[in-house]
This record gives sequence, structure tokens and C-alpha cells, in this order.
Amino acid sequence: MAVLLAIESSCDETAVAIVRGEAGRRTAVLASEISSQIELHREYGGVVPELASRNHSLRLRGLVEEALSDAGVTMAEIDAFAATSGPGLASSLLIGSTAAKGMACALGRPFLGINHLEGHLLSPFLDQTSVPPHLALIVSGGHTLLLDVEGPGRYRKLGGTRDDAAGEAYDKVGKLLGLPYPGGPEIEKAAASGNPAAYDFPRSMLHDPHLDFSFSGLKTAVLYTLQREQGNVSVADLAASFQQAVIEILVGKTLQAAWQTGRRMIAISGGVSLNQALRAAMREACDKNGFELVTATPDFCTDNAAMIGFAALLRHLAGESTPLGGDIHPNLPLAG
Ligand code: KG4
Ligand code: ZN
Repeated sequence: MAVLLAIESSCDETAVAIVRGEAGRRTAVLASEISSQIELHREYGGVVPELASRNHSLRLRGLVEEALSDAGVTMAEIDAFAATSGPGLASSLLIGSTAAKGMACALGRPFLGINHLEGHLLSPFLDQTSVPPHLALIVSGGHTLLLDVEGPGRYRKLGGTRDDAAGEAYDKVGKLLGLPYPGGPEIEKAAASGNPAAYDFPRSMLHDPHLDFSFSGLKTAVLYTLQREQGNVSVADLAASFQQAVIEILVGKTLQAAWQTGRRMIAISGGVSLNQALRAAMREACDKNGFELVTATPDFCTDNAAMIGFAALLRHLAGESTPLGGDIHPNLPLAG
């Protein structure tokens, strides 16, 4: 049995979690604190790195104290400390990683530097007793990745985006449509009353034999439509048609990857996996083709520290740790 304190500070959420678990048992999330900076960055239409890191350092200590109090554990009862070590904004990663190392050093406990993407990847299994072999789709603001997962720590990259990530496309199209940042949830709301067949946007690479994605053409198609129609458009129809294209691409490529690898279980994670229309389409396709679909609970889809704590716990229980001299890695890959 081990109790871990984990910090996530790779982008614009400052998060601290405390998790407790042991091999073969379901992990308990004793506390999961998140301080979102969305309001802070909204007026700039995107994340400002300097503001993000300053805010992480201002919020972190209070969040650690709240997490300990919510979990009902003392600092002395923490067996190991973890933080996201990449990928992400360098100045933001440094805040969380330095804080976790400081606590580990002061208490003489091990430190674990965790790949943010591994946190997302494993998040659908947080409430389960094991991580079985499966096909994983990570769809977030920074990444769109298909991976063949043999088990914890054993990942093979099958495909990724060649330009924008799916969430990034949502955010950029949201901006074009004059919706607030972040665009993902706003487009989902607008799309609910729109016609997904109103505009025939491109489904780039959908029928190519490889497993890569491209979303920048889709974003440009939305821009050209807006320019051509000169404001005479329905935002709901545009949002619904854009979302329909994204969903068809994500579902199509994920099933293609599952057939190619022979995996029967599909897990989706990351902020975009919160999207109800995507979930419904993925579930329908999985049911039709006999695949089992696993999703993360909504609280653990967007950036949080519980997923970092869970990934760290699995590594800690396997006897792993990271040297305190280990650096942060803004471009850290998950798998080759
Ligand atoms: O995983 P996440 O919190 O952060 C990264 O690691 O990037 O994902 C954030 C992304 C943003 O691009 C946001 O617009 C998108 O997830 N997102 C959504 C929804 N909720 C968040 N995209 C589509 N539909 C949603 N409901
Ligand atoms: Zn993320």
C-alpha cells in the first residue's frame, strides 16, 4: 500500500492530488484539487506562458495544503511525490516539478517525473484494478495520438497529428466563430442546435492506409466558408458540421487502428474525450464492431493531478523512481 502526492502544472491548470493504492487493487483518489486559469487567459484567446507559471507558483502551496486536509493525511504519511515532467510549457513544468522534488528531498522520499500523456493514457483505468492490453486514443489540446498499449509502460505509437491537435482545431475554430476560449466545450454547445450536414468539410487522411491525422485543412475550410458567406452563416450549423468532420475522422482512424492491431478494447482520453457527441459516435461504432470502449470519468478527462498520481503509483509499485537531478522535458515523447 502506498500514498502518493502528485502535481500537474504542464499548462494552464494547477492541480494537486493524493492517491492511495496497491498492486491489483483499485486506486483510491483521496483528494484531487484543480485551480483552473481559464478565466485568466480568456482575454488573450489562449494560454500566456508567463502568466501561467506565475499563477502556478502562487496557487501551489495552498492546493497542497487543501489536498492533505481533504485526504486526511499528513505530509509524513506520503510515501512518494510525483510531478508532470513533460510535455508542456517549460516555465510551468518547472514550478510543479521543483515543488515535488523539494518535498521529496525534505522528507527523504522518492520522486517520480511523469509524462503528462501517460497520465491521460492511463486515466480511463483509474477506477479499475488493472490496465489490460488495448488500443488508446489520446485527444487533448496539444495531442492527438493513437497507441498500441501492451500494459503500463509498454506503449507503441501508431499515429499522431501532422499539424494541429484535435483540441487545438476546436479552439482555433471556436476563435474563428467568435466563441470564448477554450473552443471545445463552446463548439459542442453550439453544435447541439445545428445541422451537421449543412457544410461538407474535408475528412483529411480518413481513407489513407496510415494512422496519422491532419486537422489544419478542416480549420482552413471553416475560415474560407466564413469569408465566402461574409457573416451570413449559422454558427450552430458551422459548429455542428465542423464537429461532425472531427468525429468521423477520430472514430474512423481509431477503428482502423483497432482492426490493424487486433486489439478488442479501445480507450479514449484527454479533454476532447469529454465531448458527448464523440463519445456517442465512438460507442456506437464500438458496439457495432464488437469492441469494448473504456472512457475516463469526466473529472479526469481534462488536465488533473489524479491521473499523474495514478501513473506514478503504478511506477512506484513497480520499484521505479526518478533521480532528483532529472530535468523537465517540454517536448517529451510518450513512445517511439
Ligand atoms: O487534456 P486537456 O485538458 O489539456 C491538454 O493536455 O491539452 O485538453 C484541453 C482541450 C482543449 O483544446 C479543449 O477545447 C478541449 O480539450 N475540450 C473539448 C471539450 N472539452 C474540452 N473539446 C471538445 N468538446 C468538449 N466538450
Ligand atoms: Zn492534458
